[in-house]
Amino acid sequence: MKTELVTTIAAMREHIAAARRQGRSVACVPTMGALHAGHGALIDRARATFDVVVVTLFVNPIQFDRKDDYEQYARRLDADREYCAARNVDFIFAPSAGEMYPEPLATFVDVPDLARHLCGAFRPGHFRGVATVVAKLFNIVQPDAAYFGEKDAQQLAIIQRMVRDLNFSVEIVPVATVREPDGLALSSRNQRLSPEQRRMAPALFRALTEGQRSVAGGERQAANVKAAVLKVLEGEPGIRVEYVEIVDAGMQPVDAISAGVRLVAAVWIGSTRLIDNLLCRLADEATD
Ligand code: PAF
Repeated sequence: MKTELVTTIAAMREHIAAARRQGRSVACVPTMGALHAGHGALIDRARATFDVVVVTLFVNPIQFDRKDDYEQYARRLDADREYCAARNVDFIFAPSAGEMYPEPLATFVDVPDLARHLCGAFRPGHFRGVATVVAKLFNIVQPDAAYFGEKDAQQLAIIQRMVRDLNFSVEIVPVATVREPDGLALSSRNQRLSPEQRRMAPALFRALTEGQRSVAGGERQAANVKAAVLKVLEGEPGIRVEYVEIVDAGMQPVDAISAGVRLVAAVWIGSTRLIDNLLCRLADEATD
């Protein structure tokens, strides 16, 4: 199947209007490109349910708090096109920064209560940039559903809340994190790790698993669970911890653990920042 590359908002709208005239349903997978199997899982879920699948590839300048991070972000349009074609994607929407932001924005979407902690505390303006570009992409593509990975749990919660608060007519579908065999969550940033750093990186998943195990074993104090996580991370001197937290569905840190909390963490390995999270089950919760 041919995947069509679309670079202007006007052309994207025309394709969507044509699909709608034919009564076809539309799904959107927003990405910043450098596609990997984590994105593949989002695309496959969208492909299985909707007539038309649009993958957006846009490295969004307004969500980067560091210029070097924006500049270093992997851009691989040719490889991404092949990846999308192999997965039967209908359209790639890959606008330029000038197409998306012809003038500095005067309007932003902000979800401050959910953006205050965790990554939001360390990346000023990041989630405002994410919510704003996702709102723009939803207005351009007007999908019935959009797919987001659970690896970015705070981003997912913020987008779900934005959709609810602003009455976007789009279903947000969360998709489970895809991991390497050693547990490392897939991320475009993984390719920046040197072989030695790559060896250390699975400690993040091991540490979160240890925390999850302590909750399943009956631990109810967030401080004790965090200590268990930190102990594993401290075993890898090359890892610098940015945060380890236990949060509720509203991304607020909790002291006492109850059902549905998520263990979330961000670490640095050299100049690469990695995030991951695991949902915690209580000992007395039924398993799937
Ligand atoms: O998760 C991402 O890749 C980005 O934050 C998103 C949702 C595509 C917005 O730029």
